[in-house]
Amino acid sequence: MKDTAMAELFEVDGAKCVKCGACVRDCAFRALKMEDAGPRMAFPDRCMKCQHCLAVCQTGAVTFDGKRPEDSLPVGNLQLPSLESVENWLRTRRSVRRFAAADVDRATLSRILAALGNAPTGCNARSLTFTCFPTHESMDRFRHGFISAIERHRDGTKLLPRWLAVPAIRLRKGGEDMFFRGAGGMLVVSSDEKAPGVTTPREDVTIACAHFEMLANAAGIATCWCGFLGLVQREVPELLEQTIGLSRTAPFYAMLFGLPAVRYARGVQRDSYAQIDFRE
Ligand SMILES: Cc1cc2nc3c(=O)[nH]c(=O)nc-3n(C[C@H](O)[C@H](O)[C@H](O)COP(=O)(O)O)c2cc1C
Repeated sequence: MKDTAMAELFEVDGAKCVKCGACVRDCAFRALKMEDAGPRMAFPDRCMKCQHCLAVCQTGAVTFDGKRPEDSLPVGNLQLPSLESVENWLRTRRSVRRFAAADVDRATLSRILAALGNAPTGCNARSLTFTCFPTHESMDRFRHGFISAIERHRDGTKLLPRWLAVPAIRLRKGGEDMFFRGAGGMLVVSSDEKAPGVTTPREDVTIACAHFEMLANAAGIATCWCGFLGLVQREVPELLEQTIGLSRTAPFYAMLFGLPAVRYARGVQRDSYAQIDFRE
């Protein structure tokens, strides 16, 4: 983006600005500068569009990229999860592998995916795509396409790894779905690693998945990480190209989701498993 266009992203309402300098101080890459007339975007090429200037302004004087302060969530009286509620969630959240026949409510799913756009990305690169199979029907189509792609591959000259071929045959025969656990939905988070400013594509997708799990669980939607598709990309990447449209090298991770058909009565006990190493 040209410097002039970037400079115009940062607008200050002179009637509200008290020139306190909070926006300038909070700008991580020092793109802003305080002048007699007030703060201005002095080094647009440094701006990573994180919107901290909009968020930190106590008087609501900053509009960034057309985002007006009055349209932001005010932090003041917001109810945020307590330490206890997040701890409780972490100790009782489960990878669910049994799903009910009903679909997840679409409006809830859309709401979760919109909120997910707020998950942090390295240098605020925001290069993520959320590809969502939202219903059992869409998952069944995907499963069918996946198995067909495996079969086409098997008909060719290449050998398939056993861990892929054997469960595929079982699934084709209507047996257990070892790959996708009978889930009623799947979210594939991918990063355009070639997009400008992308520094941490793999971390970005994993972080988004972790936040998806948290948001989904809060809405009563069960999730399971789908590491299996990562193995597929490593060994037979053309299967993902054909079924999801993911390039051979696209950093991605997938989360299975749906309404749970299992209810856990208690949490697990893993507090003591991590090595905690305070260095005073
Ligand atoms: C990165 C990652 C990949 C995973 N891949 C799979 C998978 O492909 N299939 C599956 O059933 N579970 C998968 N899991 C779930 C783990 O097996 C599970 O998190 C672990 O056994 C602990 O259980 P819990 O999540 O219920 O606490 C994965 C988990 C993570 C974090």
